[in-house]
Amino acid sequence: MKININITLNSEPCTLEIDTRETLLEVLRNKMGLKSVHRSCLEGECGACTVLVDEKPVNSCLVLAATVDNKKILTSEGLEQKERIHPLMQAFIDNLGFQCGYCTPGILMNAYALLNREEEIDDQKIRKSLEGNLCRCTGYVNIVKSVQAAKKEKDSGNWW
Ligand code: FES
Ligand code: FES
Repeated sequence: MKININITLNSEPCTLEIDTRETLLEVLRNKMGLKSVHRSCLEGECGACTVLVDEKPVNSCLVLAATVDNKKILTSEGLEQKERIHPLMQAFIDNLGFQCGYCTPGILMNAYALLNREEEIDDQKIRKSLEGNLCRCTGYVNIVKSVQAAKKEKDSGNWW
């Protein structure tokens, strides 16, 4: 069955016609062309498809698009501003927080939510928050360093 949903996608209000069987991952990636939303396990195990729904991280492969009517969706494309790279992304570049990059958009969204909700973070909190995001390449040390570096940028006011 086809229905219309109204969402705010990366700060832009939009109305989308979707099939009620479609997942949020399918709609974002296939219909909206947001290729940062990676398709991998499709079982909620890897976190590669993580996006924010009303500021909370979700595995978009497990969410039916019909359930996000009237909600705000943020993908990592939405972090960039007028072609300015987000300080969180810059921190990952500066600290070698990725290698192949497959897991990176999902990790960025989870880290972004963590940094926005927590005043204080430590390595343990970062690791706990990213436990649902599997990375086969980095060993996580540089990911944690990247999030710590992003926290410094946030605290200095370089954030949006
Ligand atoms: S593709 Fe969604 S959790 Fe792996
Ligand atoms: S950088 Fe390759 S899977 Fe994480």
